[in-house]
Amino acid sequence: MDTQKIIAHTTEFVKSKLTGDSSGHDWWHIYRVWNMSRKIQRIEGGDLFVIELAALLHDIADWKFNQTEKSGLSIVSGWLKSQEVTPEISQKVIYIIEHISFKGEGEQDKMNLLEGQIVQDADRLDAIGATGIARTFAFGGWKGNEMYNPAIKPVSKMTFDQYKKSNGTTINHFYEKLLLLKELMNTNTAKKIAENRHTFMELFLNRFFKEWEGVC
Ligand code: ADP
Ligand code: NI
Repeated sequence: MDTQKIIAHTTEFVKSKLTGDSSGHDWWHIYRVWNMSRKIQRIEGGDLFVIELAALLHDIADWKFNQTEKSGLSIVSGWLKSQEVTPEISQKVIYIIEHISFKGEGEQDKMNLLEGQIVQDADRLDAIGATGIARTFAFGGWKGNEMYNPAIKPVSKMTFDQYKKSNGTTINHFYEKLLLLKELMNTNTAKKIAENRHTFMELFLNRFFKEWEGVC
């Protein structure tokens, strides 16, 4: 297996699938998760090839964009097969992608592979901090949700079904997901980065509510 070549091909494949997406899952999201995964791997270890493949392919099978989670996963396994990735590596990548997604506060799945923990951390880090704020407003607009409505309160401990159907406000999404993520980081490296990004979101929210009332 020429791993370099497979990574280069996979990069092109993912770019062609996700370019132009406006829901926060564009190629640049993948690029940041890929980069951050490599950064975490340098400190935490794990098989770099598995990590890179999972980072690059993690959103191809997203439940939000496919008829079913299974049909998305078969695109990924078909791709890995076409690149002659060994079944052992392929299985790990599929396992990671199956377990990566946040499906509501009440639906936590345990990720058992270090490689998966790293990619999951990188994906979650991209949902918080300045980038996370930008993506969240982009996603809310894409979905047609209100930015903020003081009359609509956040829902805690949502099930996957509630989370999927949720049409709450974008500001509520901070309380339903984004502010919970720092506690869900798997690796120490990601925990440190998350603390910093979390503080930035708190500053942002604080300011947002003050401006809403014309305080500053
Ligand atoms: P991931 O790439 O981690 O799978 P998601 O698919 O859950 O992320 O979401 C993509 C981006 O859109 C994230 O930044 C996420 O916080 C944001 N997002 C997801 N659901 C909502 C929502 N209901 N309102 C606003 N933003 C959302
Ligand atoms: Ni993602």
